[in-house]
Amino acid sequence: MPLSENLELFLESVPDAMLIVDAEGMIVLANGRMEELFGYSRAELAGQPVEMLMPEAHRKRHIAFREGYVREPRARDMAANLELKGVRRSGEQFPVEISLSPIPSSNGILISSAIRDVTDRLERERKARVREVELEKLENMNRFLFSLSHELRTPLNAICGFTATLLMELAGPINEKQRTQLSTVEESAAHLLALINQLLSLQNPDFAADSGNLERTDGCEIAVSVCKMVEPEAAAKGLALSFRCEAEAPVLLTNRRILTQILINLIGNAVKYTDKGGVTVSVSRQESNRGPTIEFTVRDTGIGIPHEAQKRLFEMFYRSNREREGTGLGLFISQQLAGRLGGRISFVSEPGKGSVFTLSLHQKGAEYGGANPGHRRSSGEPGVASSRT
Ligand SMILES: Nc1ncnc2c1ncn2[C@@H]1O[C@H](COP(=O)(O)OP(=O)(O)OP(=O)(O)O)[C@@H](O)[C@H]1O
Ligand SMILES: [Mg+2]
Repeated sequence: MPLSENLELFLESVPDAMLIVDAEGMIVLANGRMEELFGYSRAELAGQPVEMLMPEAHRKRHIAFREGYVREPRARDMAANLELKGVRRSGEQFPVEISLSPIPSSNGILISSAIRDVTDRLERERKARVREVELEKLENMNRFLFSLSHELRTPLNAICGFTATLLMELAGPINEKQRTQLSTVEESAAHLLALINQLLSLQNPDFAADSGNLERTDGCEIAVSVCKMVEPEAAAKGLALSFRCEAEAPVLLTNRRILTQILINLIGNAVKYTDKGGVTVSVSRQESNRGPTIEFTVRDTGIGIPHEAQKRLFEMFYRSNREREGTGLGLFISQQLAGRLGGRISFVSEPGKGSVFTLSLHQKGAEYGGANPGHRRSSGEPGVASSRT
C-alpha cells in the first residue's frame, strides 16, 4: 500500500479534524472530520492555502508563524496563549485548539495539525467561572449579613430589655402617654429582632454546615412536636389544630433541625393567617419518579392568598397581608432550607377560603416504615387532635 494511502487511512481513524499542509502552507490532505467541521469538501481544500480557514485578521500573523515553524519544527500546541479561531465555509467563526507535528518527507517538511472545536468546552468553563463568581459573592454577602445581624442583635436586645423594664415601671412610674410611646418602641424593636433572628437562621454557618448532617427521622414525630409548639397560639384564637399521619410511618433521612424550622414557619403561618375553622397537618408518602417522597401538608381555612400575590410569595420580604405582624422572610427562608434538604415547598390557595402548603422531600434516603412507632403515637397527646389512616 503506498504511503499516502496509509496516511489517509490513519487520518480517517483519528477523532480530531486533521490537516496536512506543506512548507508553503498549501493543504495537502484533510480527513472527513475536517470536512464536517469546516463545511468544505476535501477536493475543495486540497491545494488551497491553509489561511483560508482562518479569520482575515489572523492570516498575516499565521504566515509569519508558519514560516517560523518550518525553520524550527517540533510537536507542540499552536500558540497556547492566543485565542485561535477557525472559519467555516458559511463564514461562521468558532474557537479551536490546534496541535502541530512535523512530518519529514522526501519533498521537504509537511506539517500535520489536529484541530479541535472547543466551543462547548469554553462555554462550560465560562459558566463555571460565572458560577464561581456568583458563589463567592453569595458567600461574601452571607458573611456580611451574618456579622451585621450579630452586631445589631446585641444592642437590640438591650433596647427590648430596658423598654420592658420601663414598661413594668421597675425604674419608676410612667404616665399613659409614655406607656403608649414605649409600647411602640417595644413593638418596633421586637419586629426588628424577629427580622434579624430570621436572617441569622438563614445565614448561620452552623446551619449551612449542618444541612449535610442527615439522620433517620420520623416525619410524624417532628410534625407533631411542631404542632405542640404552636398549639397555644391556635387555642388562643379558638382554632382546631389536627394532625394526621397517613398509613405507615414516613421515615426519612434528613436534617431534623432544618425540617423542624421549615414546619414551624409553615404551621405558624397557617395559624397566623387563619381566624376561624382550623389547621390540619398531615404527613404522607407518595411515589415519584425520583423514588419515594414524603409530603408534609399544612391545610388551613384562613384568609387565603390573593391570586396576584401568589407568584411572589417566596420572595424575600414579600408580604401579601400587612395587617398582621411579620417580616416576610419565613417562606423565603423555608424554601431555601427545603432546597438544602433536596426538597421544595409548593402551595395552592383560594382567597377567603384557605391555603394548602406542601413540603415535599424527595430523598434517596427516604424510607418507608421501620421507625420506632412509639413516638408517633404521641400525636394523641392533649391539644393536638390526631388520627392515622
Ligand atoms: N397560610 C397562609 N395563609 C395566608 N397567607 C399566607 C399564608 N402563609 C403565608 N402567607 C402570606 O405570605 C406572606 C409571606 O409569608 P412569610 O411567612 O414569608 O412572611 P410573614 O409570615 O409575613 O413573616 P415571617 O417572616 O415572620 O414569617 C405573608 O405575609 C402572608 O401574606
Ligand atoms: Mg411567616
